[in-house]
Amino acid sequence: MSEKIKVGILGATGMVGQRFVTLLENHPWFELVTLAASAHSAGKTYEEAVGGRWKMETPMPEFVKNMVVKNVADVEDVVKDVDFVFSAVNMPKDEIRAIEEEYAKTETPVVSNNSAHRWTPDVPMVVPEINPQHYEVIEHQRKRLGTKHGFIAVKPNCSIQAYTPALAAWQEFEPHEVVVSTYQAISGAGKTFKDWPEMLGNIIPFISGEEAKSEKEPLKVFGHVDEEKGEIVPFDGPLRITSQCIRVPVLNGHTATVFINFGKNPTKDE
Ligand SMILES: NC(=O)c1ccc[n+]([C@@H]2O[C@H](COP(=O)([O-])OP(=O)(O)OC[C@H]3O[C@@H](n4cnc5c(N)ncnc54)[C@H](OP(=O)(O)O)[C@@H]3O)[C@@H](O)[C@H]2O)c1
Repeated sequence: MSEKIKVGILGATGMVGQRFVTLLENHPWFELVTLAASAHSAGKTYEEAVGGRWKMETPMPEFVKNMVVKNVADVEDVVKDVDFVFSAVNMPKDEIRAIEEEYAKTETPVVSNNSAHRWTPDVPMVVPEINPQHYEVIEHQRKRLGTKHGFIAVKPNCSIQAYTPALAAWQEFEPHEVVVSTYQAISGAGKTFKDWPEMLGNIIPFISGEEAKSEKEPLKVFGHVDEEKGEIVPFDGPLRITSQCIRVPVLNGHTATVFINFGKNPTKDE
């Protein structure tokens, strides 16, 4: 790629934003040019705005330390130097939906970590190895938003990224009863052991809202684009997922165990 794609981060000072900053240092495709957060951080250098909140294991990259943080609400100012934005703001869901649409309407694509738009029917929720064909729904979303280029795409809940690729690989054998247990790291709650010392040597066998997401979101990922309706229709075949989500004393990386009953039993060779 001769010229890098210029990107910005909405919510750059938070835990997910910091992860984006870390991943975008020396990235072969993307050049991080804009950082934005709340009014509280706006106008400060990134180093000042983050202060004692840096949660990554590696130090803050030098190239971001003196970048001046913009206000997410100053949409025109944030989008003026970027080709698209990664979104990781933490706000009420209706406000996230509204601000992400505002960005898309400036013809700036939004790739979001937030759950706010996961169930918007014309927003693709993509695990790239499984359902890249869902990007086709973007044409319909653009019509709704009145854009030529701008759109929103989201990622699913982090726990389902672990086991949906395995389910996709078994699809020809028609998995129909799936029992999943997830063992989720504390980073998924935006924490480190420093912020959450009581998790050391502990487990919490409940994560509010997570089981419903783990059972429903795969159905959208395995759904199809209905060209007439202009939306993604969730999979309505005989797939029932039951999950239990457990917080475990691990800093990063979720594990899942998955039991599957198949409609067509595979042979050992298959
Ligand atoms: N942590 C995870 O592993 C994880 C995983 C998947 C999805 N998510 C989702 O990703 C989002 C961010 O999570 P996080 O853990 O990074 O949250 P966080 O650490 O609380 O960071 C939130 C970010 O949003 C900004 N912000 C807060 N209120 C704002 C406002 N009114 N206007 C503009 N910006 C505002 C904050 O800016 P200031 O610093 O200026 O306040 C900060 O940059 C959440 O929606 C969360 O549900 C998180």
